[in-house]
Amino acid sequence: MRNPGLHVNIGPATHPHSCAALILMVLLKSTPKPAMPAADDIRRMFDRISPTYDLCNSLLSLGMDQRLRKLAVGLARPPEDGRLLDVCTGTADLALAARRMHPRAQVVGVDFAGQMLSKAQPKVAEKKIGLVQANCLRLPLLDATFDAIAIAWGLRNLADLNAGLLEMARVLRKGGRLVVLEFSEPRSALPARVLGAAFGLHSRLVGLIAPRGSKAYTYLPESIDRFPSADELSSLIGECGFEVESVNRRVLGCICVHVAVKL
Ligand SMILES: C[S@@+](CC[C@H](N)C(=O)[O-])C[C@H]1O[C@@H](n2cnc3c(N)ncnc32)[C@H](O)[C@@H]1O
Repeated sequence: MRNPGLHVNIGPATHPHSCAALILMVLLKSTPKPAMPAADDIRRMFDRISPTYDLCNSLLSLGMDQRLRKLAVGLARPPEDGRLLDVCTGTADLALAARRMHPRAQVVGVDFAGQMLSKAQPKVAEKKIGLVQANCLRLPLLDATFDAIAIAWGLRNLADLNAGLLEMARVLRKGGRLVVLEFSEPRSALPARVLGAAFGLHSRLVGLIAPRGSKAYTYLPESIDRFPSADELSSLIGECGFEVESVNRRVLGCICVHVAVKL
């Protein structure tokens, strides 16, 4: 969850030297928002966890991840023979969902982690899905090439959120749809606690399944902490050349799907 401490307004009535204020200040100082790792560190982390990425995803989401990717493709609505780009494709599960749902569309997945793409390669073989290894902050793609873009659990990992959204706006044609599927901060306390507990369990399980990558999964809750709220993300998407059409909350608000149209 985003760090609520950083948003606390101590207010003018609080005496700066009162005990409560001091404790609060210490707490605020000791719980800074986790810093964003450098892009190279993020790439290396995904390369390291690639061998067990798919297994962890399906075990820990109880298969819900595939349903959510399908939902994202459904909302992206590429024309039947149009072009869809899966940004931060990883092991290409969203691209595969797009291929199944739109057999005549051209589907391309892009990611900078070579090992994630190596896992994707046998899955997409014979499926007519293009895979490109590239940094999504500088896509090697022409302007206005795609009719639809979908990004599943990728935006949160971009070292520069703004640059990533601007790049997606650049390669999407006017009127094309962008769908962002991401974790989000639940609005009420109970789902937030459930999500916190789930991530605790997640980290432990991943520690067992993927000892080499276990560090990567302390990164998961931290990356959600850092990520903008659903409303903030809507504003950001709006500032990058899109009009947000809908925000769909799923799984008690722990997942958000933003749908936007390129202006
Ligand atoms: C959590 S995985 C999501 C993978 C996939 N979309 C899925 O649904 O499972 C995030 C992916 O984003 C990729 N990624 C993060 N930053 C990137 C960047 N700047 N350029 C390209 N890929 C990036 C990582 O390599 C990783 O494969």
